Amino acid sequence: MLKAFSCAVALLAASVISVAQPASFDSASKVFRLDGGNVSYVFGVNARGELQQLYWGGRIGAKDAFPQAKPMPEWASFDSSYTTTPQEYAGWGAGLFVEPALKVSFADGNRDLVLHYESHTMTANGVDVVLKDINRPVYVTLHYSMDAANGMLTRSATIENREEKPITIEQAAAAAWALPPAHYTLNYLTGRWAGEWTLTQEAVHPGARVIESRRGTTGHQANPWFALQAGAADENHGEVWFGALAWSGSWRITVEQDQLDEVRVTGGFNPFDFGYVLHAGEKLETPVFYGGYSAHGLGGASRLLHHYEIAHILPHRIGTGEDAAPKPRPVIYNSWEATEMNVTEAGQEALAEKAAALGVDRFVMDDGWFGQRKTDHAGLGDWYVNPEKFPHGLKPLIDKVHSLGMDFGLWVEPEMVNPDSDLYRKHPDWVLNFPGRPRSEQRNQLVLNLARPDVREYVLGFLDKLLTENDIAFLKWDYNRNWSEPGWDQLPPDEQKKVYVAFIQNLYWILDELHKRHPKVELESCSGGGGRVDLGILEYADEVWPSDNTDPFDRLTQQDGFTYAYTPQVMMAWVTDVPHWLNLRTTSLEYRMLSSMQGSLGIGANIAKWNDEETATAKRLIAEYHKVQPTIVQGDLYRLISPRNGSEFSATQTVNKDKSQSVVFAFIHSTQEGRLFPRLKLEGLDPKAEYTLTAIEGKAGPQTPATASGAWWMHHGFDMDMMFRGDFKAAAFRLDRK
Ligand code: GLA
Repeated sequence: MLKAFSCAVALLAASVISVAQPASFDSASKVFRLDGGNVSYVFGVNARGELQQLYWGGRIGAKDAFPQAKPMPEWASFDSSYTTTPQEYAGWGAGLFVEPALKVSFADGNRDLVLHYESHTMTANGVDVVLKDINRPVYVTLHYSMDAANGMLTRSATIENREEKPITIEQAAAAAWALPPAHYTLNYLTGRWAGEWTLTQEAVHPGARVIESRRGTTGHQANPWFALQAGAADENHGEVWFGALAWSGSWRITVEQDQLDEVRVTGGFNPFDFGYVLHAGEKLETPVFYGGYSAHGLGGASRLLHHYEIAHILPHRIGTGEDAAPKPRPVIYNSWEATEMNVTEAGQEALAEKAAALGVDRFVMDDGWFGQRKTDHAGLGDWYVNPEKFPHGLKPLIDKVHSLGMDFGLWVEPEMVNPDSDLYRKHPDWVLNFPGRPRSEQRNQLVLNLARPDVREYVLGFLDKLLTENDIAFLKWDYNRNWSEPGWDQLPPDEQKKVYVAFIQNLYWILDELHKRHPKVELESCSGGGGRVDLGILEYADEVWPSDNTDPFDRLTQQDGFTYAYTPQVMMAWVTDVPHWLNLRTTSLEYRMLSSMQGSLGIGANIAKWNDEETATAKRLIAEYHKVQPTIVQGDLYRLISPRNGSEFSATQTVNKDKSQSVVFAFIHSTQEGRLFPRLKLEGLDPKAEYTLTAIEGKAGPQTPATASGAWWMHHGFDMDMMFRGDFKAAAFRLDRK
């Protein structure tokens, strides 16, 4: 009996181990394999000792075995085997012409680095593989882990100098990914201030396409995400490999098709102006590069990424494993577009009363409450409450907001200083600068050098004090310019470029420390809109501000682009006034509300001026939104019709996890020649279940049944009311399983 029992325990243990440990190593073939979800990732030690990539794609059979990795042959005397072999992490040396993962200079002038397998350790969800230069004590530990449920890979590297003298790291990737020869389309996200999140698509050709930021921060102009589609892959079909870099400093992703048509993607710290001196015994950790694979097109790829972000990256998760999730975001009111910096106690309280009447959950006061901040020329750095605007401090306003049933949030821009501030007058040496050179201002402000220990302490200190003395639930953390003159004259000249790493490490350290000291405080990452959105900041930020552009029509395309990489859970979207300040466009309140309701809803209009009808419309739609918000922001997102490329129409659909609810949004830009809205064939429902359709806004066509099977909604689909025509129209529906 005892024996039978222990056997059962052993069997149970074996099955538990196979679920919990996605990685294995075959010591005969020297092949590592990671399996998770519908994905397998395989690499091995080749005959020369390099770590060679073997396979990344759909999950293969448990018994399928790979022979030992064989280096690619020398293609010609111009293309050595070292350069044509797809390595997991290639050192620059031995005649490597493709993008290296690591390039270093030694103190004696040697710059040759060839990394060979040394050892490995299995970890809870993957494996750590140690590489070492063929004769110098420079070690690189490659960290791999795979999510057992959806196959997302997490990769990073630790570089260690065990030489007696310093080495300078000139280039360090988090990871390199390799794909077999095929015709690929590269997808990436580009933009500018007020115009972020353009999905850019282009064929991969021989040579390299570099996506990057040299700005010291993530940037509006490109975002550290890529997706490569093979052949005719589209929104819902075909193979897609994708990745996202978790780094909020200067970054680079290089997508390269080599002379044998193999494609590699290498990403990490931007090597431009880089030079990290690693003293004897020191280590450098690279950022994490996440990677994923889907056989269900770009839509499948983004659904995997969204769920991974929700379950594993965002802070304030409740639950564990794949079921972990943060709460849907509170519906906020933010006063920025209503008052700009003219904030006063009475004005904010009046707005708070109106916001509470609409059903808003959180009231956020934006820029203008501190120091001598009347315009953007002064005050940044002086984080005391302005006594003229708030004679009794923030407490009366916060109490008022609480008495109205909302919590309170506040805008800060901790890493910046106006030269017209007490802080700058006292510490002019605290900003990024090269002594004796001009200090270029943007928006009349300079960047505090957060890499400096004194600046780090100052920033943590004032934020800690602010949060300790006031009942603040939320900070909107802004960052309104990029770097210039990135000098750090506290360090010896050859070490000053360390600022690119140390600044961001200190930013993350402060955020972590604040989280420990004030665990309930939530955070939004804003950088003049979407200038700091990446999977690094999203470990600390509960939400992001995608763009300063709140025009509801522009937002449709921006939101479409944004959701290729990031979940609607973090995508804040405000309803603001018309005519819109950017495009001078006037749209209905219903259209503005529905555009924003596709993400995490906020109101940013001057609601003090809203009439009864506007107030009633917003109140009704906020109440409807609250009922279906979890499905919208955490469900499976299907982009049914893209608004891109001047489309007349667009539509999105989300389905919750147990498929009991779905929400559909439909928008018309401008109908032409009386064309009707296309029939909407839904996705992701349970074909056998019965669903009832309810209009949130608008009407379905006369032939559309009130209740039908999931199969009916997916195969037959539903039509919009024939009168759903014109300019800037919007409709929304929910389907609930009976
Ligand atoms: C940035 C933000 C805005 C607002 C202003 C305040 O531009 O993106 O939302 O907070 O700063 O100065």
